[in-house]
Amino acid sequence: MTFPFTKNIHYQNQSLSIEGCSIEALALKVNTPFYVYSQARLLDNITACKAAFDAHNIQIHYAVKANCNLHILQLIASQGIGVDLVSGGELYRATKAGVQAEKMVFSGVGKSRSELIQAINMHIGQFNVESAEELALLATLAEDTSDNTSRKLQVALRVNPNVVVNTHKNITTGQKGNKFGIDMDLALTLFEHYANHPSIELVGLAMHIGSQIFEVAPYREAIQKLRLLATKIQEKGGNVSVLDLGGGFGINYGENTPLDFATIAHVIAEETKGFRGKVAVEPGRSLVADIGLLVSRVNYVKESHPTPFLILDAAMNDLMRPALYQASHPIKEVIQNTTSATRSYDIVGPVCESTDIFASKYPLDTNIKAGDLVTFFCAGAYSAVMSNSYNSRDIVPEVFVNGQNATLVRERITQEALLQYEVNAKPL
Ligand code: LLP
Repeated sequence: MTFPFTKNIHYQNQSLSIEGCSIEALALKVNTPFYVYSQARLLDNITACKAAFDAHNIQIHYAVKANCNLHILQLIASQGIGVDLVSGGELYRATKAGVQAEKMVFSGVGKSRSELIQAINMHIGQFNVESAEELALLATLAEDTSDNTSRKLQVALRVNPNVVVNTHKNITTGQKGNKFGIDMDLALTLFEHYANHPSIELVGLAMHIGSQIFEVAPYREAIQKLRLLATKIQEKGGNVSVLDLGGGFGINYGENTPLDFATIAHVIAEETKGFRGKVAVEPGRSLVADIGLLVSRVNYVKESHPTPFLILDAAMNDLMRPALYQASHPIKEVIQNTTSATRSYDIVGPVCESTDIFASKYPLDTNIKAGDLVTFFCAGAYSAVMSNSYNSRDIVPEVFVNGQNATLVRERITQEALLQYEVNAKPL
């Protein structure tokens, strides 16, 4: 395991810091568990991402689902990046964060009628449609709401290129049998069918083949399939002026070599050579994962044979990835273990589920004790966003750090607050 320390998250005088703030000091102000993010790291990631993709004229739409905190979205919007959305809620948040409608792409396999209407009324830049049925509904709604002055809805068809991706089975999305995308043959038929529709214009093809991918080969294969399809569509008189290639670029959770922006941008540029139109990507995890930590305290060191349990105050409801995908997040003591004597622990949370396990036989300080702080690395993506209040636990707060300034950007959502939705039961 190599620790993904960065210049923004590292030990200073044996105490873990995020930019100019000590985690220990933050933990005295915000009760554990809490998430904390580095603004400098986010800006560095955005800069690297823009440099890599701008060099090849590839547009970037941040996949909001990875982390939808308003303050993160505001920062991303301020850097001129567009967004990829999958719900009316994300559309609402992105709007509040100041993202221009033109820079919004609406993806998602099951958009509801009301979500589609919301997006039509917002005049968003592009719809990525995932079924013939959704396209039919969108066409009807577009006709109903058309005021003759607005341009036709710009629609890309998300296809399922049926490529094998070497990642966790729960996060592959571009293989036959996955619920996502339209069969390539059907996409061709749909382009013909909607050729002269008065309110919608099929402008391109989209794909997203999965997440936490390290190899470029499946991207190459999928893009080649999309281009073959684009040629067929064009031969039949259709217009493919957008190729939206999704996200999925793998990051280092301690044991991986990341698929860096420059590498994948270069591969995409090679595979889209000669394509006249807009090429876009939708990175999520790779922009935000390594900006964040989850900070937790040890509740108990429970002696047990052969492995003692380290029972934390964070649980699967705060960070679901280990329980859901057997994901491993590097874990470190906040006060550095200077003796380097370690012992193996099973690191678990207090939730009443056997899957509430963060790590098995994991080496940490031999002398770790109740009250000590530990932190999970790479917890900026698919972490706070997936938290919930199972076992009637509070929803975990989020802190944003900029140099020596720390801001509480999401308050702890307490049971008292949550109960407000239940106490005044209304007869229906
Ligand atoms: N575009 C679309 C249409 C997507 O569905 C996704 C992610 C992305 C872009 C961004 O993918 P990324 O660059 O973040 O890999 N909760 C899982 C990951 C689920 C990803 C869902 N779709 C996890 O924690 O690993």
